[in-house]
Amino acid sequence: MKIAFFDAKPYDKSAFDKYGEADGIEFKYFETKLNEDTVELAAGYDGVCVFVNDTVNAPVIERLSRLDVKVIALRCAGFNNVDMNAAAGKLKVYRVPAYSPYAVAEHTMALLLTSIRRIHKAYIRSKDFNFSLSGLTGFDLHGKTVGVIGTGRIGRVFIDICRGFGMKVLAYDKYPDTSIDNGDTVRYTDKEEIFRQSDIISLHCPLNEETAHIINEESLELCKKGVVLLNTSRGGLVDAEALLSAIKSRKVGAACLDVYEEEADLFFEDNSGHIMEDDTLARLISMPNVIVTSHQAFLTEEALSNIAETTVKNLTDFRDGEKNRNELCYTCGVTHNCLDGKVLS
Ligand code: NAI
Repeated sequence: MKIAFFDAKPYDKSAFDKYGEADGIEFKYFETKLNEDTVELAAGYDGVCVFVNDTVNAPVIERLSRLDVKVIALRCAGFNNVDMNAAAGKLKVYRVPAYSPYAVAEHTMALLLTSIRRIHKAYIRSKDFNFSLSGLTGFDLHGKTVGVIGTGRIGRVFIDICRGFGMKVLAYDKYPDTSIDNGDTVRYTDKEEIFRQSDIISLHCPLNEETAHIINEESLELCKKGVVLLNTSRGGLVDAEALLSAIKSRKVGAACLDVYEEEADLFFEDNSGHIMEDDTLARLISMPNVIVTSHQAFLTEEALSNIAETTVKNLTDFRDGEKNRNELCYTCGVTHNCLDGKVLS
């Protein structure tokens, strides 16, 4: 089985070749992203393997179908870049729902600690033998309230980490997991209480119609002065202009962003020699209390290996006509064993 692998990076290849060779899946690596201009590269392949910033919209799906491509294998959890309605009846779509929730949750905590303990500033100072502590005062996480929006795999690991720091957790999810609510240190509530009471807010829900710009002018208005915002989920959850205004007005004390709404043409690439056209991103990055990483939260050895193993299993199950729980449902966009977007078991 031959698969056209788009947006390939050097760190992808070894794990995909290892698992692919073992199971008869041959990957052809293309550095370009999949979009309407590059879709012709998929001619002669049985499937495409894509990542978060490939464009899998209706025209691309239509063309893939005409090229007799049968399967789209997402090597990520989020699938907001795939037009599932367009894929219905034409191509099967698989994803990797979980590869290392620890990778993303741990990166989220790394960003938080870096930000509030001013590690990014201290690192640069000490490189220059500047050992002054002025301006590096942080605050304890112990006893602070963290609001976690989205308590799925990653959100729950992040909650565990926060509990280890002695933080109080307020949680919100469309489908709460009541087993984690102890009525004390972890408590489900509504979004409004999260915005009003949290010292830190971390986003771990998917991007969809309900969650798009969940952080906006109105929600930021409700927040405590000095709130720290963490987004390692999807850029579209945050209205970046509203965030910028709230940082300028000192409402937001710090922001840590691993994702950005307009990241598709920027993140994962070296743009250091280019003029930054995105004024909002440039302004955010210029702020001393904003830390941006470029969709890096997933990037651990363990996650890369799990992604490759699961993607190859998805493809061999497709090839062999086996049932597979990672196949996305056309109607609700989760799995074939689902109800209103929630996996049943
Ligand atoms: P998950 O599916 O296990 O959990 C998502 C949770 O969000 C579920 O509990 C679900 O009920 C909840 N949810 C759905 N709609 C909601 C709504 N309208 N309001 C509140 N909660 C809602 O997903 P997982 O693995 O925890 O991943 C979370 C997100 O993290 C993904 O959607 C993806 O966007 C992002 N991600 C980012 C990565 C990175 O490298 N920065 C890597 C992997 C995932």
